[in-house]
Amino acid sequence: MTTRRVVLTRSAAVIGAASTGLLLPEIVRAQAARVRVGFMLPYTGTFAQLGVAIENGVRMALDEAGGKLGGREIDFFKVDDESNPAKGVENATRLVQRDKVDVLIGTVHSGVQMGIHKVARETGVLNLIPNAGVHVATRQQCAPNVFRTSFSNAQPTLALGKPMVERGHKRAVWITWNYAAGDEAFEGFEQSYTAAGGTIVKKLGLPFPNVEFQALLTEIAALKPDAVACFFAGGGAAKFLRDYAAAGLNRSIQLYGSGFLTEGVLEAAGDAAEGVITTMHYSDLLDTPRNKQFRLNYAKTFKLQPDVYAVQGYDTGLLLLQGAKAVGGDLSNKKALYAAMEGAVIDSPRGQWRMSKAHNPIQDIYLRQVKGKENRVIGVAAKAVEDPGTGCRMG
Ligand code: PHB
Repeated sequence: MTTRRVVLTRSAAVIGAASTGLLLPEIVRAQAARVRVGFMLPYTGTFAQLGVAIENGVRMALDEAGGKLGGREIDFFKVDDESNPAKGVENATRLVQRDKVDVLIGTVHSGVQMGIHKVARETGVLNLIPNAGVHVATRQQCAPNVFRTSFSNAQPTLALGKPMVERGHKRAVWITWNYAAGDEAFEGFEQSYTAAGGTIVKKLGLPFPNVEFQALLTEIAALKPDAVACFFAGGGAAKFLRDYAAAGLNRSIQLYGSGFLTEGVLEAAGDAAEGVITTMHYSDLLDTPRNKQFRLNYAKTFKLQPDVYAVQGYDTGLLLLQGAKAVGGDLSNKKALYAAMEGAVIDSPRGQWRMSKAHNPIQDIYLRQVKGKENRVIGVAAKAVEDPGTGCRMG
C-alpha cells in the first residue's frame, strides 16, 4: 500500500541517511484499512510521567469517540525517545519507515522535537506535537503537516512578568535547564518582566537533565532577589521544589515559574510546593463542566489525577478526530485534512482554543497558586495569547 518517490532497499539505509544529513524520501501512502498512529514520547527519564500522561490523554479522547478515526480501526506503535536529542532523527525515522505510521504524535523535549521535525518536513508525514514548545517548529520552520496542541515555549512566561511586578517583586533571578525550552521560556519572561518594570538580577542554568541545584541555590541566597522565576518540569521540577524549600528559600524569596514546575509533581513535592505561583494554559480547578467531566473520566480510567500533559494529549486526540472525520478517515487527502485541522475549534478541558496560522494554540493563560496540593486559579494572566513569532511562511 506504500508508494515511495525513491525506491528503498533497506530501512537501515534510511536511518543511516538521516544521520548523515541526507534527505529522507517523501512518503506517499494510499489509504489502508486501518490507521497507523505512532507515539514517540519519553517513557523513561525525568519526563517519563509526561509521556505517559500524553498517551493516556490521546487514548481517552479516541476511546470516547468510539475508538476509531473517521470510521477506521487504529493500530498503535510506540517508541521511547528517552528525551535524548541525539536519537531524535533515528527514532522518528523508525516510526515513519519501519512502522509506516500515518501520524506521528510526539514529543515532550524540544531538542528531540527538532529530530522529529526534520523527518516530518522531509517525508511529509503528519506530526502532532503534544508538548515540546520549541519555537522554530511554528516560526521559521513551520510546516503544513506539523500542528502543535500545547504551547510555544515563550507563551506561559509571556504572562508571568506582570503579576510578579504587581506583587512588588521587582528584582528577580531566573534559573533553568540550558536547552531550547529553558532559553525560550526565558525569552518570554525577559520580555514580560522588563516591560512591566522588573529587573533580572542574574540568569542561572545547568545542563538538562542535571538536578544538582545546591551551588545555584547558595548563589541565589547570596543575591537576595525579591523573587526567583524558573522553567523546570517532570522529575527535575519535583527535585527543584524540594531543594528550594530544604535550603529555606521558600520562606524568604517567592518562587514563580511557568506552570510546568507544579504539574504532575505536587504529591512528590509535598509541602515544598505550597504557595508557588505559576502561569499556565490550564488549572486543575477550572470550574467548567468540560473540565470536571474530563477529570472524572481520566481519574476513573487511569486511577491517576490528570495534569496539563494529559490535557494536551487529550486535545491532540480531539484534533486528530476532527481532521479524520472531515476526510472520512482518508488521511492521505492531505489538503482537506490540513484545512480541517487549521479551522478546528478544540473544546478542551483548558477552555476552547483554535490554531494560529502557524499551527500553534491561541489560548488563555491562567495565574495559579499551589494550595494543599492543587494548582488553584487566582486569575486570568492573559487572554487569547498567540505566540508572538512572525517567522512562519507556510509554503
Ligand atoms: C520542552 O522541552 O519543550 C518542554 C519539556 C517539558 C515541559 C515543557 C516544555 O514541561
